[in-house]
Amino acid sequence: MEDSTLDSGLKPKTWGGFWDIFGDMLVDLLDIKEGANVLDIGTGGGAVLYPAAKRAGNSGFVTGVELCDHWVKVTTAQIERCNIENAKVLLMDASNTGFDYHSFDYVTAGFIGWDDYFDFQAHKYKKEDKLMAEISRVLKPGGLIGISTWLLQEDLDWMYQFLGRHSILCKTNYSIEDEKGWREIMSASGFKDIVVTSESVTYTYESIEAWWKEMRSYDWVLEGKDDDVITDSLKDDAFSSIQAHVVDEGGVQFKRNALFVIGKQTLPT
Ligand SMILES: C[S@@+](CC[C@H](N)C(=O)[O-])C[C@H]1O[C@@H](n2cnc3c(N)ncnc32)[C@H](O)[C@@H]1O
Repeated sequence: MEDSTLDSGLKPKTWGGFWDIFGDMLVDLLDIKEGANVLDIGTGGGAVLYPAAKRAGNSGFVTGVELCDHWVKVTTAQIERCNIENAKVLLMDASNTGFDYHSFDYVTAGFIGWDDYFDFQAHKYKKEDKLMAEISRVLKPGGLIGISTWLLQEDLDWMYQFLGRHSILCKTNYSIEDEKGWREIMSASGFKDIVVTSESVTYTYESIEAWWKEMRSYDWVLEGKDDDVITDSLKDDAFSSIQAHVVDEGGVQFKRNALFVIGKQTLPT
């Protein structure tokens, strides 16, 4: 592989932890080749974009697209700081990119969630899947799509059950997707050679406070009621109930479970 600017010593700052581990896994599963033109959908902190750029090398390029202005700015600043010349991030909705037909060798989509389009409980579409149609449009014949998505998460499920025991009305902001649904989506979109694998990563929050902060960053209760509902006594109860997951150094350990879906774009008829 050609020497990439990513090997020059400067390491981009990402979200770290399981994001990076799963980002590397997605890129490895796709086996992105040197010189490839890659589209990374929902770039966020760059967990997929950076390893993809490393594999594509100086003769390849990775274009990230991201809906959130904040993450476009943060990741662009990291790309510039580390002098990564074969990647950029654009503020854009991936369901309407305007890129040329059949212009990418690979499309990656790390944890962007498909529940807007597909109901993974009823296994049917909720609405027209404009995102997959756009991916299919911009992917070259023979090109590969690689998606990672969440299965049941031990920590979020723990919190969901805990709040339920306290009769707190929850709305989780993560969806649990599954292999059956993904096989249906990929087949309906005309992809072939579909491979679905699941992977688990044991993840340790450095302290109970860090775990609690992460859990609180999810929208568990109806907007506006948060501070009324999450009281100090509730927090105390959570801290004593979580003890089974506390490890020696005082960290809190859970499994993160992800599904990886790979498919090949078929030749146009
Ligand atoms: C959970 S983050 C994952 C980031 C990164 N792909 C990773 O694997 O670590 C999902 C990101 O996708 C972005 N996103 C979701 N739907 C999108 C769309 N239609 N177009 C562009 N970005 C999107 C969100 O703004 C968010 O930053």
